[in-house]
Amino acid sequence: MIDEVKKHLVTVEAFQADTHEAVEAFRISYAGKKGILNALFAAFREVAPAEKKEYGQLLNSLKQAVADKVKTLQSQTSQGTQTGTIADPFRPAFPLEIGSRHPLSLVRNRIIDIFSQVGFSISEGPEIEDDWHNFTALNLPEYHPARDMQDTFFIQTDPDILLRTHTSSVQVRYMENNTPPIRTLSPGRVFRNEAISARAHCIFHQIEGLYIDEKVSFADLKQMLLYFTKSLFGKSKIRLRPSYFPFTEPSAEVDIYWGLETETDYRITKGTGWLEIMGCGMVDPNVLSNCGIDSEKYSGYAFGMGIERIAMLLYQIGDIRMFFENDVRFLKQFKGSL
Ligand code: DAH
Repeated sequence: MIDEVKKHLVTVEAFQADTHEAVEAFRISYAGKKGILNALFAAFREVAPAEKKEYGQLLNSLKQAVADKVKTLQSQTSQGTQTGTIADPFRPAFPLEIGSRHPLSLVRNRIIDIFSQVGFSISEGPEIEDDWHNFTALNLPEYHPARDMQDTFFIQTDPDILLRTHTSSVQVRYMENNTPPIRTLSPGRVFRNEAISARAHCIFHQIEGLYIDEKVSFADLKQMLLYFTKSLFGKSKIRLRPSYFPFTEPSAEVDIYWGLETETDYRITKGTGWLEIMGCGMVDPNVLSNCGIDSEKYSGYAFGMGIERIAMLLYQIGDIRMFFENDVRFLKQFKGSL
């Protein structure tokens, strides 16, 4: 009899289980109503008087051992995963497969960061726009030839509704609903009816900036552009080329001096060292009045840039289509970037 209890003691000490169910089965087999412990206690009567003391002591140790074992195993399995695997606090963590941010989000966030540091807020507008916000209010009345600069997707049943061709439409919405001083940045998706190639896509992204206050001048614009190009590209040599946009007067295109150090520099700058990065200008007074802002009192500047274009420059990506193919071999390269 004593030997039997000793055997059980060894078995209980050695018992291991890694699921909650197995621990429970073990507990029932020993401590259940019809379990081993009760049977052994019942057998006490049959034990020879000389052995009763040792038997009783051993049996109590067995009872304690069962209770301890159940307690330890229960706490281990309840920490485990849902399948009941024992949690091992020293096990190295699973290599968690963390995705990466899309390069366009990375670049957009960096641009937002740069401008929020100087007080710009973020505003957004609808992708399905009306003619007024996308064109007319921006000094592009119906039949204006400049509308040809932006091949437009119209909604067939309603010529007044279109997919916005630029984020300048958000400028209009913002000015209609806010009073100066205005400092806002509008990132968003835009659409143009263009054939897809390595350089152009019918869907792409822009960021629009707008600053309206009293006495805002072209010098303010230039200073902001310098701050921006320095922060984003680390380059502080820029030039402004006179250009034309119906909603700004004067208008300019911004080039940064990229340099001509490598063969790639030659290729992407076509041997000039200069790269065009955005359009800008002083908001045309007509646009201010169209949006309910007193153009005698206020002036401002605006700028707009293509996020894909900037991302292609920053990451040296040669084909705009790569942004939209979702090829993980491409996307994985941006792992770890914030
Ligand atoms: N909306 C223009 C485009 O899509 C970009 C642009 C140019 C925006 C000049 C501006 C600006 O705000 O001032 O080509």
